[in-house]
Amino acid sequence: MNNRTKKSVANSLEVENKLLPYMPYLLQDLWALGSSINQILDIVVTLPLSSDTAYVLDLGCGKGAVSVQIASEFGYSVVGIDAMPEFLQEAQIKAAEYHVSELCTFYEQDILTYVKDKHDFNIVILASLGGIFGSNKDTIKTLRTQVKPGGYVVIDDGYLKKRESLNRKGYGHYRNYEKTVEDLTSFSDCLISEISTTEVSKKINDEYLHVIESRIIELSDQHPELEKDLNNYLELQREECDILNKELEGMIWVLKKSKK
Ligand SMILES: C[S@@+](CC[C@H](N)C(=O)[O-])C[C@H]1O[C@@H](n2cnc3c(N)ncnc32)[C@H](O)[C@@H]1O
Repeated sequence: MNNRTKKSVANSLEVENKLLPYMPYLLQDLWALGSSINQILDIVVTLPLSSDTAYVLDLGCGKGAVSVQIASEFGYSVVGIDAMPEFLQEAQIKAAEYHVSELCTFYEQDILTYVKDKHDFNIVILASLGGIFGSNKDTIKTLRTQVKPGGYVVIDDGYLKKRESLNRKGYGHYRNYEKTVEDLTSFSDCLISEISTTEVSKKINDEYLHVIESRIIELSDQHPELEKDLNNYLELQREECDILNKELEGMIWVLKKSKK
């Protein structure tokens, strides 16, 4: 993995580069790494697509929680891209367990590179990757190049409850509701649905924290030299949970790309 990719993966997992090799261990108890799976499935089921032809792209697919369940529930073909080989191995195992290996293709690649080429998927999903492509406007500008005209863009992220912006690492792209919708629709795509994930995100974050806490204790015993970094990471995660709860509303946005 080159340095740019490493930085991007580390940012998405809110961890210092030094701890990146230990993330598969710390996150071993989780399948979904932050996304609101059930809500994404509830949205995908409403989209008028046929299992013979539907072709889905899951950017930053992690361990394939979204990809595998979409393939399993709807019979759609899914391409999942991620830069962490250990997560992708887990995704393959899950695909086999759900009997959808033939519908799921996982590639180890930097998604910032992958999206430089246009694609013609029916759905592109960006779940729990925040502002990886920049502002909300940059995000939709990028994602809409990955689907055909009339295709769907699904973004699992959120907006600021009260403030207009927040000066904190990883939060630079967040805006209030009105501005977020304005930016996401700035290319004439139609916002066809939105599902609040605030409550479910709170539960997901609490579980995340609980799970990593016990793995951090184990890892600190095995690697005493990492204890300080691991405790800093845990402290940061606690702080992140508080900020998320206080400042953000979780939301899944679904846009239909204009035919223009
Ligand atoms: C918070 S996790 C979300 C994973 C998945 N969408 C889910 O909800 O289970 C972010 C994922 O994005 C991947 N990632 C971050 N930056 C990336 C990049 N530039 N290229 C490829 N994968 C990236 C990480 O490896 C990680 O698996």
